[in-house]
Amino acid sequence: MAKNKLKSFEQLKSFENVIQPVYAEILNNDFHLKGKWAESFFKNTNPIVLELGCGKGEYTTGLAELNPDINYIGIDIKGARIWRGATTVIEKGLKNVAFIRSAIDPIQSFFSENEISEIWLTFSDPQPNKPKKRLSSSLFLNRYLSFLKPGAIIHLKTDSLILFDYTYCLVKENNFSIILKSNNVYSDDYLPDAIKNIQTFYEKKFISVGKKINYLEFIVNHHSTVIEPLEFGKCKVTTELQSVNL
Ligand SMILES: C[S@@+](CC[C@H](N)C(=O)[O-])C[C@H]1O[C@@H](n2cnc3c(N)ncnc32)[C@H](O)[C@@H]1O
Repeated sequence: MAKNKLKSFEQLKSFENVIQPVYAEILNNDFHLKGKWAESFFKNTNPIVLELGCGKGEYTTGLAELNPDINYIGIDIKGARIWRGATTVIEKGLKNVAFIRSAIDPIQSFFSENEISEIWLTFSDPQPNKPKKRLSSSLFLNRYLSFLKPGAIIHLKTDSLILFDYTYCLVKENNFSIILKSNNVYSDDYLPDAIKNIQTFYEKKFISVGKKINYLEFIVNHHSTVIEPLEFGKCKVTTELQSVNL
C-alpha cells in the first residue's frame, strides 16, 4: 500500500468526525449511536441527512456549509476518500458533519426509526449486472425505510442512464411522488442551486468527457414494501431522450 495512504489511514483513527466501526459493533443491528446521533454526536436536535457512497464527500461538506442547521453524515467504504472529506471538514471548521467508513449494506445497524430526513445518492455505482446492489434498489430502499422520516426525500444525481432509468421505473412502479426530474441538469434553469453548484469528483470526470448529468428527486411511501420495477423495458424514457440530444 502506498505510504501516503497508510499515513491517511493512521490519521483517520484520530479524526473526531470519522467513525470506523468494527464488524462486531454492527453485528447485532445496534451500533452504539443508533437512535442517538442527535443527542450523543451532534448534540442538537437538527435534522440529519445522509450521503451514501459519498466518496470524497463533496455533497456532505457542500450542503453542510450551506445549511449549518442541518447535520450531514457521509458513508463510504473507501478510507482514502473519507480522509479527503473529513480533512476538508476540519479545515473549514464545520461542526455539522460526520463520516462513517463502512459498507452501506448493514445501514440499518446505524440508524433507528424516524432518525433520518433525507438521502443523497451521488454518482452511485450503476451495477449494470447486479441490480440488487444498486443503492436505489428495492433491497436498499426497504432498508432505508426503517429509519427515514415520513415524507423523506431521496435525491439521485447520476451520469448513468442505466441507473437513472432503473430508479425512475422503480419510483413509478411504487407510485412514489416525483418532485424533480432532469435529464440534463446544466440546461434546466428551474433546478435549485445546490444541484448545479456542488459538483463531485466523479461528476467532474463525467462532465469532462461530455456526459450529461441526470437528477431525480422523489419521496418514498412508508405504507408499503418497495418492489422492483416489473416492466423496466417500458419506461426507458431517458435513454430515448438522451440519444436524441447527443
Ligand atoms: C462512483 S463513486 C462516487 C463517489 C462520490 N459520490 C462522487 O460522486 O465522487 C461510488 C462510491 O460509492 C462507494 N460505494 C459503492 N457501493 C458501496 C457500498 N455498498 N458500501 C459503501 N460504499 C459503497 C464506493 O466506495 C465509491 O466511493
